[in-house]
Amino acid sequence: MRSRNTKNNPDKINDQSDDKNSAIQQSMWGGRFGAGPSAIMQEINESISFDKRMYAEDIAGSKAHAKMLGQQGIITKADVAAIHKGLDQVKAEIEAGQMLWDPALEDIHMHIESRLRELIGDAGARLHTGRSRNDQVATDFRLWSRTALDGLDTLLQDLLTALVNQAEKHADTVMPGFTHLQTAQPVTLGHHLMAYYEMFSRDRSRLCDCRNRLNESPLGAAALAGTSFPLDRDMTATSLGFKKPMANSLDAVSARDFALELLSSLAISATHLSRLADEIVLWATAQFRFITLSDAFSTGSSIMPQKRNPDAAELIRAKVGRIQGALIGLMTVMKGLPLAYSKDMQEDKEPVFKAVDDYELCVSAMTGMINDLKPNTAVMAAAAGYGFSTATDLADWLVRVLAMPFRDAHHVTGTLVKIAEDKGCGLSDLSLAEMQAIETRITDDIFNVLSVEASVASRTAFGGTAPDNVRTAVKAAKQELNL
Ligand code: ARG
Repeated sequence: MRSRNTKNNPDKINDQSDDKNSAIQQSMWGGRFGAGPSAIMQEINESISFDKRMYAEDIAGSKAHAKMLGQQGIITKADVAAIHKGLDQVKAEIEAGQMLWDPALEDIHMHIESRLRELIGDAGARLHTGRSRNDQVATDFRLWSRTALDGLDTLLQDLLTALVNQAEKHADTVMPGFTHLQTAQPVTLGHHLMAYYEMFSRDRSRLCDCRNRLNESPLGAAALAGTSFPLDRDMTATSLGFKKPMANSLDAVSARDFALELLSSLAISATHLSRLADEIVLWATAQFRFITLSDAFSTGSSIMPQKRNPDAAELIRAKVGRIQGALIGLMTVMKGLPLAYSKDMQEDKEPVFKAVDDYELCVSAMTGMINDLKPNTAVMAAAAGYGFSTATDLADWLVRVLAMPFRDAHHVTGTLVKIAEDKGCGLSDLSLAEMQAIETRITDDIFNVLSVEASVASRTAFGGTAPDNVRTAVKAAKQELNL
């Protein structure tokens, strides 16, 4: 047999003696087996190394199931009481670090049940009536995801709050707006930050939709076909906070689209985080100098003393790769899987756990960076004027005041930009005479629209960058966030 060196793996679970392993397995599912599994089989089969994270959900699910079995007269009330008491003890033992994790017991479900049976005997052995690990794991995983989604919602709320607070402070701060990363038109920093507010709000609502859709109970679907025991699936669904029991037993044990939906929503949101992170990296360069990052969110270089590196932003920008990878990984696991449960589906949990952990870290770091952000407003304002950023305002003036068709106005403005470029000056540095040489009807009034401040102030149509619009958007956002 192949032997593997696992000595240096700190995650390795402490193995118990082979005798004990096979004895336990015989008692869980080994009725028809003559010999225990090989060590490699055990290693590939186990999920306890990661699914122990769902112990609280597993215990909650078992308690709800036991109570319902008692209510329906399937087990006695005395058994229910013993099971509840026993499960409380198992939970306490796990939380005290006293549980012996044993790969022979495969997963969290078998660990808890096996310990329960050690503690309370026969009553514990009755818990699995009308239930399978297939509906059990689906229930646990949905409960775990639901709790995770609630935590993510709070974290996103914190990020949205940070964005709104900075946007409010910088409703009037002008900066260049870019297309193709070329200076396009001036915008306000507040407006730019509120663009991310919109993106993260949609992410939040996507996660909320996901929570809503996953909140149905698979419990009682049993292995795949349902059960002949008179279960009250509404009762277990309600006691676990699910909206209702899932309608089809095959779907209940086979569906993992809730996990895919969670991962897709995280992947989209992580993409948004990476865009903001990239702007932070760019803005913090010596060339841009738009912002100064706080000490708390920068690092130094071991060789270049002048460096102040935006490592947190860079890592947020990079971690999207892991989150997208988790999504593609699980998509690939689920693709082409026949109904109902296949062991392939045990591979569903790690990508979700990891993506949630990564995403939580990224959102928290981003919130910290946004809260601490120090914009260099003078540098931003100066940059806002570079690159003929108010050329569109000049063209718009020609349209508005001289009733020139926009295409002609675009041409006249282009000619003036060329003249300024050749002279090495800005549009507002051209004299009236120089402008009139191109279009005789231009008046002094043109200079009122060539400043960056006038430009942003004029963009008052709904959704535009005008400071007053930003203040209105901030007000609405604060209401949305109950701030
Ligand atoms: N550990 C398993 C998983 O995560 C639990 C379900 C096992 N079901 C089975 N029929 N072997 O998917």
